[in-house]
Amino acid sequence: MSFTIAIDGPAAAGKGTISKAVAAHFEFAHLDTGLLYRAVGAKTLDGTDPIEAARKLVAEDLDADNLRTPDVAQAASRVAVIADVRAALVDFQRAFARRVGGAVLDGRDIGTVICPNAEAKLFVTASAEVRAKRRFLELDGKGLDVSQEQVLADVKERDARDMGRAEAPLKPAEDAVIVDTSDLTIEAAVASAIKAITQLR
Ligand code: C5P
Repeated sequence: MSFTIAIDGPAAAGKGTISKAVAAHFEFAHLDTGLLYRAVGAKTLDGTDPIEAARKLVAEDLDADNLRTPDVAQAASRVAVIADVRAALVDFQRAFARRVGGAVLDGRDIGTVICPNAEAKLFVTASAEVRAKRRFLELDGKGLDVSQEQVLADVKERDARDMGRAEAPLKPAEDAVIVDTSDLTIEAAVASAIKAITQLR
């Protein structure tokens, strides 16, 4: 039997950390769907047409390390507004969700568009300031030359684009459990996510 957990929310709210921990806890497979859009975005920085890039995406394109840069994040959110790009990525995500043994997918539209029938849905969020601080520490820790102000501006720009687009905008599904991680430690955020999902199992 398959059991799908949809985890959506804005950038740097803690989705990735929570999704990994939830997948490990339930022994489910995990797909970070942001990587799909980042991989397409990265290709457009080399001049590739975004729709073409989305249609030809292969597993080897999803090398996480090269895709976790601010430029690629912005490029990802720019290609993510294109309906044909999103359409090209739907089947792969839905097939992943139907895996026997259970799946966790995290992104922006998993609970609303990709898996509206997911057994458990979480919307993980936090204030823009808290998210920008976390993302700044992450990028700074990797040695990238960024300022906290620039990261906050980037986060706000991406939020506005993700929430304002016509196609699959970022918003909580009506039946999603909201997890606000602004004042939570990682451990507390993970525990509250696991508790909420356990109640739905
Ligand atoms: O989650 P991450 O920050 O890696 O996502 C990068 C960008 O990809 C987001 O800002 C968003 O525009 C897009 N995205 C999306 N739908 C998803 C996952 C990511 O539109 N399911």
